Amino acid sequence: MDHVSSENARAAGDAQEVLVCVDQYAFPGGWIKPAEADARAQLSCEQLEDGKVLCFERVPYLLFQDDREFLLSQRQSESRLHKNVSYRPSRDVLRGAAGEPKERARLHEIMRKYSQEVTRFLKQLLAPYALDMALDFASFRPEEEEGRDLPTHKRNDLLHCDAFPTRPTNGHRILRCFTNINPTAPRIWNTTDAFSVLAEKYANEAGLAAFAAKGSAPSHPLVRSFKKAFGLKAVDHSAYDRFMLRFHDYLKDNRDFQQNCPKTRLEFPPGCTWICYTDSVPHSVMSGRYALEQTVIIPLTSLLTPDKAPIRVLERLAGKPLSRSS
Ligand code: SIN
Ligand code: FE
Repeated sequence: MDHVSSENARAAGDAQEVLVCVDQYAFPGGWIKPAEADARAQLSCEQLEDGKVLCFERVPYLLFQDDREFLLSQRQSESRLHKNVSYRPSRDVLRGAAGEPKERARLHEIMRKYSQEVTRFLKQLLAPYALDMALDFASFRPEEEEGRDLPTHKRNDLLHCDAFPTRPTNGHRILRCFTNINPTAPRIWNTTDAFSVLAEKYANEAGLAAFAAKGSAPSHPLVRSFKKAFGLKAVDHSAYDRFMLRFHDYLKDNRDFQQNCPKTRLEFPPGCTWICYTDSVPHSVMSGRYALEQTVIIPLTSLLTPDKAPIRVLERLAGKPLSRSS
């Protein structure tokens, strides 16, 4: 592989350049040729780190048909408070679910099982990450995405890279696995130039230098105790986290970028599962309903090509470290 051009990342091209169809892995056996398992797992990690979207034609983990049917029978009331139903594996808590207690309990049970099964799959597929993969939230997305009425920064039909306001990563990576459980309609995404290209074009204008200059010092003890008194989590955001949140909003606010940037349409048919680093693969969802999603956090130290991580891209641009540990 040409090292220089892969490091500089692609310009938005056609879907074939972004999507990697994994046909050598199937449920329940895993990699079809066990002798190749290590090499294929390594290649999959490298492809993800290179900004590719791995996809599977059939669900590559255990998902029972009656659970899928129950999910399809759910329609959550349109709410601006909860974009989706979310499940927090570490606390076994379900949020944003509508309906009777009995229905909510069934949904909770399905999400718990989904989270366990999809995590087992991710650890087997991406073996080099397995040991240090940290579980984040899972979600069920029953609403039609086309024409959703959400505030600008929550709109997912605008191109963006993910950053979580309440869960700073300090430079670690956001890896997400989606499954389209809709039996008839695809889920449609758009993507555009890779993160490194967008950062080079827009990071200055989004204020990278000022975020880098301010550094990553923990917040003042008074601010922390104030937050605690109001029941808020006193999480510290590194310069990287602050910039990534700003960049997320900057891209969604930038009309010229949203209208005129080159777009690549990605179509995920019924039953398709796909995985990518959504902190660096710019994405917007244009239509589709009924998706399952699990987020995991991959530490920088687990990456096979850490220089391609957004924090390293931004540090090269800023000429300064953007987290306490980097
Ligand atoms: C997102 O923008 O992170 C969500 C994409 C989707 O729901 O398909
Ligand atoms: Fe997103």
